[in-house]
Amino acid sequence: MRDAILELLRENKGSFVSGQRMSEHCDVSRTAIWKHIEALRKKGYVIESFTKKGYRLMDEPDIMSWLEMESVLTTKSFGRHYKYLESVESTNRIGREMANEGAPEGTVIVAEEQVAGRGRLDRGWYSPYGKGLWFSLILRPKFPPIEAPKCTLMAAVALIKAFRRLGLQTAGIKWPNDILVNGRKLVGILTEMNGSMEEISYIVMGIGINTSSTLEEIPDFLKDIATSFAMEGVTVDRREALNTILEELEMQYNKVLAEGFNSTLAEWKELSITLGKDVEVRAPGNTYEGKAIDLDQDGNLMIERADGSVERVVAGDVSI
Ligand code: BTN
Repeated sequence: MRDAILELLRENKGSFVSGQRMSEHCDVSRTAIWKHIEALRKKGYVIESFTKKGYRLMDEPDIMSWLEMESVLTTKSFGRHYKYLESVESTNRIGREMANEGAPEGTVIVAEEQVAGRGRLDRGWYSPYGKGLWFSLILRPKFPPIEAPKCTLMAAVALIKAFRRLGLQTAGIKWPNDILVNGRKLVGILTEMNGSMEEISYIVMGIGINTSSTLEEIPDFLKDIATSFAMEGVTVDRREALNTILEELEMQYNKVLAEGFNSTLAEWKELSITLGKDVEVRAPGNTYEGKAIDLDQDGNLMIERADGSVERVVAGDVSI
């Protein structure tokens, strides 16, 4: 009911819709319409009302609820099952719970804030209310589990393509999956898999993107290493941004399902800021320096050391 009212107001945004027309359209009393309008106002919708004229939608809240997202979403499958939470420990945790309960591929879990957002290598992820896109996507690919880590590379490629469409041209990928702008991190991706040796039951791909935090707002320990769209001078509407990102993720994923990972890995190499650089590798139990020379077909980073030997980095962190 509330959706129908909002739809009618949106179709006539800035113009009045009479209470009579609304009550006929929705087949409820004018008192019921008024109650729904009040509820929408409490959620942050700015709706003017004048006797004899009716109601007029002036502004909508900057939130990621389904009510707001539905009118923007243009994907076929990604985000069509949508779970919105104002505050949550971690969207990846909810993603795993929902996937265990059978949530379909393409389900997206979005939160305004995460109070215990999780990063790679057991780190935290700063996720303040309304200042970013904190979401997880459930995938159920049919390819073997060994391919799963490449989904993270696929996501990084899709994100850069989405960012270009959103007006940010300068982002690059640091292996394996950080997206940096001018040396500072804009995005983190945390991919978690569940399954057996033979098949993937599900992948929960958690993506955190700083959209509007300013340098003053971010905590001191992040000031030198993090950035946001706003800090890079690009204003984004979070709902448009999420839609663009889901579109690109859906396209890239369908490409991988149809053709395998090869072309995505080639795109990753083109967008990489790691390849060709002298780097320090911090792999479990081993820190060393070398030159990042290539990505192998499994998405591992190839490092040439000073003595000419070549190491393959499967997991770890790399500083440029
Ligand atoms: C990294 O360390 O670079 C990965 C950070 C991933 C953060 C995202 S935000 C949405 C999802 N939920 C989480 O708890 N983490 C991921």
